[in-house]
Amino acid sequence: MNVREMQDEIMRLKKENDFCILVHAYQSHDIVEVADYVGDSYGLSLKAKEAPQKNILMCGVRFMAQVVKSLSPDKNVYLSNSMAGCPMAEQLTREDVLRFKEKYPDHAVCAYINTTSELKTVCDVIVTSSSAVEILKKYPAKKILFIPDCNLGRWVQEQLPEKEFEFYSGGCPTHTRVTAADVEKAKKEHPGAELLVHPECRWEVVKEADYVGSTTGIMAYAKKSDKKDFIIGTEQAIVQHLQFECPDKNFYLLSEELVCKNMKATTLVDVYNCLTGKIREEIVMSDELINDSLKPIEKMVELGG
Ligand code: 13P
Ligand code: SF4
Repeated sequence: MNVREMQDEIMRLKKENDFCILVHAYQSHDIVEVADYVGDSYGLSLKAKEAPQKNILMCGVRFMAQVVKSLSPDKNVYLSNSMAGCPMAEQLTREDVLRFKEKYPDHAVCAYINTTSELKTVCDVIVTSSSAVEILKKYPAKKILFIPDCNLGRWVQEQLPEKEFEFYSGGCPTHTRVTAADVEKAKKEHPGAELLVHPECRWEVVKEADYVGSTTGIMAYAKKSDKKDFIIGTEQAIVQHLQFECPDKNFYLLSEELVCKNMKATTLVDVYNCLTGKIREEIVMSDELINDSLKPIEKMVELGG
């Protein structure tokens, strides 16, 4: 089977087997083409709930499939490749958070969505890169313990000076590899280009950007802008998608380091195997885990709009 034939088979199988395919924007273009919905972590969380299908295939990383399961416990949720985990989501455990809570008893615990379901059970509110500022602005607590991504936290702090933050020094191993020296080099190579970056990048990178936002936010900004040249400071798939959708514009990757091996674990063959049922992992969570992890996720949905 060539790529086109496999994609046709996937389209046929998803109808036949009542599957909705959710695809994170970091997936490759051949997977994006068979998606029912492509988006950032926030959009993906909400889409599964409204999907009429009984089965959801998440092409992304494990925490995304877990959030979908918590929000849609009656659906069968599958992860496209069992090896696709987000290293940031493994940086802190539930027990670590309980220890932090002892140290900062008057702080609300705000966790980035890139965390395990177990960890979410001891948090007050979940945020994503596209919703963090809006949610924490509305969240009543003044003192916030922001985990695990201190870079995202730093960017949020900058926009909410009325709040007091404590951070854990975690972060994304892919985005944190980019430095101010990469920005200087890219700007020299592409003078006049706008710099669009994900808030998981270090502050020294974020502070130089013309736009900071989620994967979907970056794509929307670039598509709408009347500028022609863009330096993209997030996973390289976004450059591919943008170049495909806007052939008259130019997109340059900020650093060759911006490749997330975990997001790239999923291939079109994995999607095909999941739909045939040959190899697939169903997300299984106890009722207790679903209910307890759902509380801070529902807070996110309530405040995030
Ligand atoms: P988004 O919410 O922007 O899709 O971010 C998810 C992620 O893992 C980025 O590295
Ligand atoms: Fe996790 Fe970073 Fe990959 Fe996003 S890019 S999935 S935060 S490792």
